[in-house]
Amino acid sequence: MKRLRLLIPAAAVAAAFLVAGSAYATVEMSKKEKKPCTTCHEKGRPTKENPLLNAIGKFYKEKGTLEGAPKQ
Ligand code: HEC
Repeated sequence: MKRLRLLIPAAAVAAAFLVAGSAYATVEMSKKEKKPCTTCHEKGRPTKENPLLNAIGKFYKEKGTLEGAPKQ
């Protein structure tokens, strides 16, 4: 029983870190380029499996910059 009491808060902390980490990654993308999400994403809800990238998003993924990206 003692062990379980230690394990639950540890799991909660780990889960919080995971959630914070992935939110940080996506907000960071938009902050870094100071652009709205729709600059690189089609309408909808981007996920890891299907990020819904538009032409600009694909360019950004390939080159890592918006420099020289196609016009919106
Ligand atoms: C400068 C272009 C750009 C902007 C702006 C941008 N994204 Fe992305 N996003 C990308 C690219 C490129 C990927 C694909 C990354 C990959 O496949 O490796 C991506 C992937 C994602 C994913 C998939 C999960 C992941 O981390 O791979 C989510 C969710 C997401 N974006 C949400 C957002 C949200 C929400 C915003 C606005 C706050 C946003 N993006 C703004 C370029 C952008």
